[in-house]
Amino acid sequence: MTQSLMDRLGFEAPIFAFSHCRDVVVEATRAGGFGVLGSSLYAPEELEQELTWIDNHVGDRAYGVDILMTSNYDETVGGLSGPLADSLPASQLGFVEAWLDREGVPPMPEGLERERRSAQAKRERYITREGVQALVEVVWRHPKVKLLVSALGVAPPDVIEKAHARGILVGGVCGAPEHARRQCAAGADVLVAQGSEAGGHTGTISTMVLVPQVVEAAAGRAAVLAAGGIGSGQQIAAGLALGAEGVWCGSIWLVTRESDLLPFQKDVLLRARSQDTVQSRCMTGKPVRMNRSRYTDAWGSPDAPPTLGPPMQKVLYEAARSRIDRASRDDLYSWPVGQVVGLMRDETSVREVMLRLQTEYLETIDRMARTLASAEQRLTARAT
Ligand SMILES: Cc1cc2nc3c(=O)[nH]c(=O)nc-3n(C[C@H](O)[C@H](O)[C@H](O)COP(=O)(O)O)c2cc1C
Repeated sequence: MTQSLMDRLGFEAPIFAFSHCRDVVVEATRAGGFGVLGSSLYAPEELEQELTWIDNHVGDRAYGVDILMTSNYDETVGGLSGPLADSLPASQLGFVEAWLDREGVPPMPEGLERERRSAQAKRERYITREGVQALVEVVWRHPKVKLLVSALGVAPPDVIEKAHARGILVGGVCGAPEHARRQCAAGADVLVAQGSEAGGHTGTISTMVLVPQVVEAAAGRAAVLAAGGIGSGQQIAAGLALGAEGVWCGSIWLVTRESDLLPFQKDVLLRARSQDTVQSRCMTGKPVRMNRSRYTDAWGSPDAPPTLGPPMQKVLYEAARSRIDRASRDDLYSWPVGQVVGLMRDETSVREVMLRLQTEYLETIDRMARTLASAEQRLTARAT
């Protein structure tokens, strides 16, 4: 029998915790799960700092890193000199600025805006093909990283080869069975089958329908994790029943105490219902599931210009977000979050969430075992 993913990565609970926040990654890992740091838009020196911090706090446990290795990056952007913010088209920039002014959101003070732009300019080059190489070089220097996940596409062949040579498993996020087949052909070890109800970049197939198709496409070549909409132990059991070896959760950590969202942002998510999320291109240029706000509504209005492609739409969004955050405007605030937001009701610690998930999971398995036992008793009684 092949070794389970949990044995290969050395952890106890079948729960992968995806977060951009290093404290969440460490706490989830220390509580028996497997934390994965989302590193989209980090410059290499920032990633180095984050991984060093995680190494120092995670004990002897392994963790993962997720890097945006997009295969459809707009190559013309790589040829632009200077910060991308200087090349934003007048139509889209004018639309957002006029909308923020109409909403009464003050502009950023000049000094703060300069700082923000220079921090952004430092990071924005690292989603090019060359940039990804610089980021993975950082990963290789941190031996506790045992899983490298490619968001939005198949990792380049040399990255997969170098990861395997270091004993690092390679994962890929899949929104359709074709993605799973491509990931397996390239040599991926772990497939994150992420349904359309998930927060972040999503496809159109729901988790319940997607997971068995990804399991079938993997045909035993890679382990499958169920992602999208999972926020309870009952749902973990369901994911495993569908053929997954574990679950991969992103949204539920956003409202934990360790999450670095601002208090007003957590309040927006704690109040939101499942039907308050939308899929929109207004954040990155690709469909992202996020909470609906006046910002998403503005981009859906008939006078809105077309959204830009990645990464320019994200550059535009970051400019708007900084003004919205500074003004603490909850009615304008949108952030990637899935339909599971409707189950997120309290701000608790990551450890408490992990404990609840594991308890509910074990209770569910126990309940199902009792259901099976009584079904067997009935069958035996009928046969005798
Ligand atoms: C705030 C946020 C940011 C995300 N950013 C990324 C990312 O950079 N890379 C990635 O692979 N997935 C990203 N995702 C998707 C998660 O990895 C995960 O697949 C998803 O959250 C699972 O569904 P759930 O939100 O219902 O838990 C993000 C999700 C959220 C909520």
